[in-house]
This record gives sequence, C-alpha cells and structure tokens, in this order.
Amino acid sequence: MAVPLSLNINGEVRAVDVEPRTLLVDFLRDALGLTGTHIGCDTAQCGACTVLLDGHAVKSCNVLAVQAAGAEVTTIEGVTPADGSLHPMQAAFRDHHGLQCGFCTPGMVMSAIDLVRNNPTPNREEIREALDGNLCRCTGYHNIVTAIEAGARTMQR
Ligand code: FES
Ligand code: FES
Repeated sequence: MAVPLSLNINGEVRAVDVEPRTLLVDFLRDALGLTGTHIGCDTAQCGACTVLLDGHAVKSCNVLAVQAAGAEVTTIEGVTPADGSLHPMQAAFRDHHGLQCGFCTPGMVMSAIDLVRNNPTPNREEIREALDGNLCRCTGYHNIVTAIEAGARTMQR
C-alpha cells in the first residue's frame, strides 16, 4: 500500500504517495522523471546512482524513497545554475575529457562535489579514494581525477 512521502528535491518540496519498498533511484527516475541519475548495477557497487542526501553523497539504489522523508535530495539536474550553464565540476569534466560514454558521469560529479565541499583542495590520492565507490568502464581514471582537481579549483572562485 502506498504511503505519503514529502521531501525536497532540487529545492522543490514534493509530496507524493509511494510504495514503501520503492528505491530512491527508481522514485527519482520513474516518478519524477529525473533520469540523470543512472542505474548501473542496482547492487550498490557502481555509483552511477549517486545523489546528495542532506548534502552527503549516497547511492540512491541503496536507499528507500521513504528513508528520504523530510530530507533534501540533490540530483545532477539540481546542480546546474538556473541560467542553464554547467556547474563548475561538470564543466571541468567536459574540459578535461573526464568522460566518454557519460554513463558514470552524473554519479562521478555528485561524488566529486561532496568531496570538494568537505575538502576544498583534494590531492590526486584523496580524489582516487573518494571515487572508491564510483566505477567507470570507459576512460580509466586519469582524466577523471584531473577533471576533479580542476573542478575543485573552480569551485573555490
Ligand atoms: S546503480 Fe546504484 S551503485 Fe550501481
Ligand atoms: S564514461 Fe563511460 S562509464 Fe564512465
């Protein structure tokens, strides 16, 4: 039986009914159409579904939608400025060739934003550690790490 759920998604309060077993990632994609959050494994291994929950990066396939009741959820759609430009971390991924197919990229960007908010000047080792839960099958990680270094610098301006 569906239960009422109220939460803040990308700055907008949404009140909806949801089945208690619905995963947050399915809720975001299927109920709200926020398909920038990807599903790569469904078993909390790949990080493609990473979103910010009250400011902290979480794998949304590992959270029930009802567990986010009353929380603030930020998806990749929510990090872009209202003028349609890219978030500095997104721009850094573009500028430093941190993606190929782009499937992992939303999750990478969300993890990177969480990292830089907690550690504004991460070194390459710290970036690699922070990406421990995010897998990319295309690029290797060299350019992703370079992009996050650059994005961190831009986020401080
Ligand atoms: S889909 Fe959530 S970690 Fe892979
Ligand atoms: S860019 Fe293709 S999976 Fe990372």
